[in-house]
Amino acid sequence: MTKFKIFAAIAILGTAGYLFYIYSTKSGKTVLVHHPVSQPTTSRKTVSHFKEVPDITLTVRMSSVAKLLKYFYCTMMRSGTLYWSSQLGNLGLILDKESKDDHKFAENLQKYQKKLGINISFFYEPLPKDKRVLTAAKSQPRGYNRQLYSSFIMDEFISTPIVAWIDTDGKFTTPVTRDNIFNGNKLRVKGMDTFQYTWLGSWSRYTERMIGKHMPSDFMTYFPVYIWRDTITNCRNYILKHLNVSTIEEAYIRVASTDYIHMSPVNTIMTYAFYFEKERYDWHIDIRDVDLHNYSKLHKIPNHELTSTDMSPDLHVTLHEKYYKDDKNIINRQAYCAAVNNTVLNMTQDIQKMCEPFKTNEMWVLFEFCNKVKQEHLTTWCKNKNKHCSSMIKEHYDKTRLLVNEGVYKLDLKKFKVVEEAANFHKIKCPPFL
Ligand SMILES: *[C@@H]1O[C@H](CO)[C@@H](O)[C@H](O)[C@H]1NC(C)=O
Ligand SMILES: *[C@@H]1O[C@H](CO)[C@@H](O)[C@H](O)[C@H]1NC(C)=O
Ligand SMILES: *[C@@H]1O[C@H](CO)[C@@H](O)[C@H](O)[C@H]1NC(C)=O
Ligand SMILES: *[C@@H]1O[C@H](CO)[C@@H](O)[C@H](O)[C@H]1NC(C)=O
Ligand SMILES: *[C@@H]1O[C@H](CO)[C@@H](O)[C@H](O)[C@H]1NC(C)=O
Repeated sequence: MTKFKIFAAIAILGTAGYLFYIYSTKSGKTVLVHHPVSQPTTSRKTVSHFKEVPDITLTVRMSSVAKLLKYFYCTMMRSGTLYWSSQLGNLGLILDKESKDDHKFAENLQKYQKKLGINISFFYEPLPKDKRVLTAAKSQPRGYNRQLYSSFIMDEFISTPIVAWIDTDGKFTTPVTRDNIFNGNKLRVKGMDTFQYTWLGSWSRYTERMIGKHMPSDFMTYFPVYIWRDTITNCRNYILKHLNVSTIEEAYIRVASTDYIHMSPVNTIMTYAFYFEKERYDWHIDIRDVDLHNYSKLHKIPNHELTSTDMSPDLHVTLHEKYYKDDKNIINRQAYCAAVNNTVLNMTQDIQKMCEPFKTNEMWVLFEFCNKVKQEHLTTWCKNKNKHCSSMIKEHYDKTRLLVNEGVYKLDLKKFKVVEEAANFHKIKCPPFL
């Protein structure tokens, strides 16, 4: 209980970004002064380059099944050990409590924490009390129903003020800077108009059933999705009220059993954030060349019209491996060469040779997420590879270079061996990363 209270307090600090103190001055007048948060709330705070940043958990909901394990190790972990700083916070894995394999997976992975240089928190989610959750959407397997349902209760496991939600197949393509996560004290959100895809209709109807609002954008177009932990709590409470049910299980069962073929809880949660907590987030929604007025009408955004500040370009720090075709494995090399370029790090001859062909490469891939389905900004925000986007890329690498030079990112390729060794336990062989 105490623990909960502390975290609730941190959440409030994180949200406001400031601590408010009341001082009594000598004259007896009371004045309100605010200070940026800098109190160490965890051991991380005293050593972190990102001291003022509230704790973040890089969060994955997964279970120990072959396909997910392979993505987890080969994609998320290998890229994450390079480009996600442990100074931002721990990795948090939400697993199935009753699964022996999940416990074994955790036991094995735990051994590598130190070598990987990141602390991992393991959370074990019990089976839902009402087993109908597992079969609610008949078109979906039990595990997937559970995972979708679980999205609405992540805040019951993750205790940091910020949940950075990523899938096992999210692949980092650049070191993550503070500015990739925040604009001031607001968490960045990216959205894209992908409404041409059939599944968007299903996602939006699902969201409408859950919270009574249409999706204003597709928010399943970037990772990690940064969410204030209490937004999840608030969204869940809103769903209960909206559907007049007493548990989120009931809500999930009722709505999912309408048999949506596609459901996207992350979209439901971010749509909630858009309508009810818009000021806590910094929105970057790409509406392509659709007229804004028409867009608002089409997606039923009454009284919540987007403004130009909601639509400015922003770049990606990951791509979605499962939906990104890169047969020759170019992206990882480009990404590494761009990260190491012009830093104090001494490249081996092998790396120098590898980077030679990318000498003049600009990292336009930071404006892409998928290419098997089209989810990119190169034909919209960054049309004709324009100067504005080009300078965003440059500014981004100016910042990552500082982080590399300060040792926040070591770009240590030996870490792969550790990830691959951990994967070996499951007899998983990752293809070469570079
Ligand atoms: C991991 O946790 C331990 C114990 O809390 C702490 O001493 C250490 O600094 C942490 N390591 C990282 C990389 O955060
Ligand atoms: C909500 O549900 C309760 C019991 O399930 C019922 O008594 C009540 O009338 C419902 N309220 C609304 C507004 O539908
Ligand atoms: C808005 O939509 C209407 C109806 O589809 C269309 O006729 C009109 O040209 C659109 N306006 C703009 C500026 O795109
Ligand atoms: C890179 O090499 C130079 C010269 O050998 C050395 O002085 C420097 O400390 C090295 N830098 C790093 C980060 O290892
Ligand atoms: C490397 O960094 C320099 C200096 O910022 C820049 O001019 C150059 O374009 C970069 N090269 C690549 C391949 O990113």
